[in-house]
Amino acid sequence: MHENKYGIFAATVQCHCREPCRRSGLRRKWHWKRAGRTIRNVATQRAREQGPMAKITYIEHGGKEHVVEVANGLTVMEGARDNGIPGIEADCGGACACSTCHVYVAPDWVEKLPAKDGMEEDMLDFAFSPDPLRSRLTCQLKVTDALDGLVVQMPEKQI
Ligand code: FES
Repeated sequence: MHENKYGIFAATVQCHCREPCRRSGLRRKWHWKRAGRTIRNVATQRAREQGPMAKITYIEHGGKEHVVEVANGLTVMEGARDNGIPGIEADCGGACACSTCHVYVAPDWVEKLPAKDGMEEDMLDFAFSPDPLRSRLTCQLKVTDALDGLVVQMPEKQI
């Protein structure tokens, strides 16, 4: 394993071993969480370098709203995670491999978002109570000016 310029082991991010990880011996979930922290560090640095932000509203299952500005280029998942918003766990760090970043998009936003690809469709099958129209994985939604005003609601639980 090698330390990258952010001080994190790069091999941890790239590894896709089953539990326990063949390379590091770490349990898979903890392993993925380390990868998530690495990606957050990179994402935060990227956000500082970029200007435009989109206002996104995250609504917890219980109804509590969080309105935050998220830099273009990040994902909707990274916006929630970097702002400490509960309800989006993102165990795989944005690799579209866990479905714990599942949300329901507000009905008027369903048609405005880019279409799901096959990988996202497949992972949504593992999400808790997915809605065929409104469910999305936030790690697959890249923030742009077009997403300014987006409203998403978290499910009762992730998986
Ligand atoms: S963070 Fe794992 S699928 Fe989105």
